[in-house]
Amino acid sequence: MSESPLAGDTPALRAQLEALREAQARLFADLARGSERYRQLARSVMRMQEEERRRIARDLHDGLGQQITAILHQIEPLADHPELPTAAAARAQRAVDLCARALQDTRTLARLLRPKLLDDLGLAAALRWLGRTLADSGGFAVDIECDDGLDAAGTELTTMVFRVVQECLANVARHAGATHALVAVVRRGHELQILVADDGRGFEIDGRRDEGGAARAGGSGMGGIEERVQLFGGRCQWSSAPGEGTQFRAYVPLGSERNP
Ligand SMILES: Nc1ncnc2c1ncn2[C@@H]1O[C@H](COP(=O)(O)OP(=O)(O)OP(=O)(O)O)[C@@H](O)[C@H]1O
Ligand SMILES: [Mg+2]
Repeated sequence: MSESPLAGDTPALRAQLEALREAQARLFADLARGSERYRQLARSVMRMQEEERRRIARDLHDGLGQQITAILHQIEPLADHPELPTAAAARAQRAVDLCARALQDTRTLARLLRPKLLDDLGLAAALRWLGRTLADSGGFAVDIECDDGLDAAGTELTTMVFRVVQECLANVARHAGATHALVAVVRRGHELQILVADDGRGFEIDGRRDEGGAARAGGSGMGGIEERVQLFGGRCQWSSAPGEGTQFRAYVPLGSERNP
């Protein structure tokens, strides 16, 4: 039987192993640098996206919104003008109602694009407004709990929480047929916890998730949520089953360099 080429050559073997360990450590370090760079890039793309949304929201509010207000002011006096025939006055009133509705929709759209409330009054106020707005249009009731003081963790983090809750509640409105939803955003030690639960029809989770955990079938909402949360070093968990409602949970580390 022939001897292994390495037998009796322990120093050479050790040197080879050492070289392999060093190469592996270098690869891991490169990988860590690469994923940190990816995280920074993705977060700056999200900052730019939020800035763009802020600009579009302002244009909508100040441009289209002001123009509809001006039209409203022109038509309103006609609706109850004593000399206008009844049929014409009724038409004018209908136009007033349509304008008022268009104005309301424009304002809601502008706020959903970038809620000024989040910048001016903080996360709790913005979440309460979001809950009210989506619950009213989706026909379900919602309770919102949000700890004070989370705004100190920075706009990037509060924007992430807002967008995550926005997508979860949009899913409740679109898919759940729920009567009630609960949103809780709380700080537990060095962790931020987000819960969005509903009592709707639920869904089969396994068939909709791939190995990496990102949602596939359906749409991109759940995958987007997961990406946002992971960019802050956090993790997500969905539990649901047909007829049993849906619970979404996210856990995000606080007090780190990434999320002060
Ligand atoms: N709260 C929920 N109740 C019932 N089903 C849900 C709920 N949330 C998600 N789902 C199911 O999971 C699927 C995937 O959701 P996801 O948000 O990823 O996509 P989508 O809402 O269909 O589309 P998109 O968010 O891209 O507009 C949905 O199509 C729906 O079947
Ligand atoms: Mg969705």
